[in-house]
Amino acid sequence: MRKVTVKKQAVEKIKKFFPWIYKNEIKKIPKDIRKGEIVDIYSPSGELLGRGYINPSSVITVRIFSFFNKEDINKAFFIQRIKRAFSKRQHLQNITNAFRIVHSEADFLPGLIVDYYDGYLSLQINTAGIENFREEIIEALIEVINPKGIYEKSDEKSREKEGLDTKEGIIHGSVPESIFVVENSVKFKVSLSKGQKTGFYLDQRRNREIVSNYVEKGFKVLDLFSNTGGFGIYCGLKGADFIKFVDISENAVELIHENCELNSINNYQIIKENVFDFLKEEVKKGDKYDIIVVDPPSFAKTKKEKEGALRGFKYLILKSLQLLSNKGYIAIFSCSHHVDMEDLKSVTLEASKDRKVPVEIVEHMYQDTDHPYILNIPNSLYLKGFILRKGIT
Ligand SMILES: C[S@@+](CC[C@H](N)C(=O)[O-])C[C@H]1O[C@@H](n2cnc3c(N)ncnc32)[C@H](O)[C@@H]1O
Repeated sequence: MRKVTVKKQAVEKIKKFFPWIYKNEIKKIPKDIRKGEIVDIYSPSGELLGRGYINPSSVITVRIFSFFNKEDINKAFFIQRIKRAFSKRQHLQNITNAFRIVHSEADFLPGLIVDYYDGYLSLQINTAGIENFREEIIEALIEVINPKGIYEKSDEKSREKEGLDTKEGIIHGSVPESIFVVENSVKFKVSLSKGQKTGFYLDQRRNREIVSNYVEKGFKVLDLFSNTGGFGIYCGLKGADFIKFVDISENAVELIHENCELNSINNYQIIKENVFDFLKEEVKKGDKYDIIVVDPPSFAKTKKEKEGALRGFKYLILKSLQLLSNKGYIAIFSCSHHVDMEDLKSVTLEASKDRKVPVEIVEHMYQDTDHPYILNIPNSLYLKGFILRKGIT
């Protein structure tokens, strides 16, 4: 087996089960090492730290599969990891037919995403190390889950960084154009090929339920960055009077109407527009909303983009506070690792000062449990948000 020696500074974090080794943390690497090769990782004093895969041209050069041993990485290894991940999620089958089975590092399979949609799988391979085991992984998935079909959606930007082409299409069985997802008795039509991410924002399942529990009779809801209508439709089923959905994506808004019909929701409006432009005009109209959901895409993919992201969040909160009724709630989320809960609170505090209104945080929210938070991997807690209401002066 090929050997990689890390610098002293990396040893502690690996001992705390952090699975990434950056380029500048590597002391010694075999010269002719190939992209995706399996390596054993050693400390400068020769202590075995684990086994993982390498990509010498990637900033995250080694990703660890297994700590402190030389576990064989083969089909049996993937069967065992997938089985564990699948069985951990069994309780979710009580409330939904769609959930994440494998969440990359957070399921100790770095670079691999597998989602379950009513018996079909959506698969995403994001690294060269995982790409090398594509056949073993597909066979393991068939053996453990026996899916009706597998759709590969390896379209992530991260593949470019790994020097891989994008791959998309059916790779096993058959997969229909539309799949019907039910979560918490709410129905959604999902397209694995046209939908964002692997088809649907599964990570917001629990938060859709939490936010919709705040609906009162007669409430008007504004679902910003609505995608296919997740939050708004939950609110409609809890008795909201009217829902306005806003999203920029043609593919996403196309499905909102069908999703409303599926759930017998009639009083709504769909707006295909940039939320920032929409808000500028909407505040001029003087309409008020009782629940405003702000669930933007990741504004800060890198640390450099953080400042711009915070400006974006501040704008969204300022405008939302203007549109909020006195008894209403704003639910705001950040799915960017670089904008954390404290950042979100600090821009909210600035907006509170500018709008001259105190803010009460009534609820904290995180990604649902099928997207695990591993304490040893801080960035695995990527989705965070809260619900606020106006305080009194
Ligand atoms: C995190 S997703 C929202 C998920 C959604 N809340 C759900 O529960 O399914 C972000 C959405 O923002 C949309 N989007 C991105 N930039 C936008 C913009 N400037 N204006 C409007 N929508 C935008 C994307 O199309 C995507 O649907």
